[in-house]
Amino acid sequence: MNLLCVSLLVLVAVITGTLGCPSDFLGISSSCVKVVIAAGIGERPVSWKVAREGCKALGADLAVMNVSSKVEHISAHIDKVFPNEASYTFWVGGHKVNGQWKWVTDQTINLKSNLWVPNTPKKDDRISFALLVPADSLHGRRYLNENGEGGWAPGYICEI
Ligand SMILES: *[C@@H]1O[C@H](CO)[C@@H](O)[C@H](O)[C@H]1NC(C)=O
Repeated sequence: MNLLCVSLLVLVAVITGTLGCPSDFLGISSSCVKVVIAAGIGERPVSWKVAREGCKALGADLAVMNVSSKVEHISAHIDKVFPNEASYTFWVGGHKVNGQWKWVTDQTINLKSNLWVPNTPKKDDRISFALLVPADSLHGRRYLNENGEGGWAPGYICEI
């Protein structure tokens, strides 16, 4: 490969933000994210634990959705790449451990942030897991919501 080709490839990688991410992951600021559709129409959705295992098998973990720009970026990506799955819910890396909401990185989840659907998560001690749910088309973004231990979702979002 000549120098021009190499330069062009690097340029394309920088422009698409994929530099440093595995090819099937999307580069978002300093992380690499992959949206996984675990269940198509008629297929079985998965639990949070199975979703997390799916991410681990990719050398990743469930994604930390702690910044609204990141949620917006991933929402736009889902709408563009998976238009037929735009109404899906996606597990992300938040869970309630001993009554405390934590990201899988062990960071505490800010419950006052406007990342959550209003009036969630509920104040009770049941085991819960975070998922990204679609909002109305006007606002065009997604929000965090919670689902219990028996809950399932057709998709999940991994992050390296
Ligand atoms: C979000 O999480 C990342 C690491 O996952 C951390 O570096 C960053 O400080 C966090 N931001 C906020 C606003 O919590």
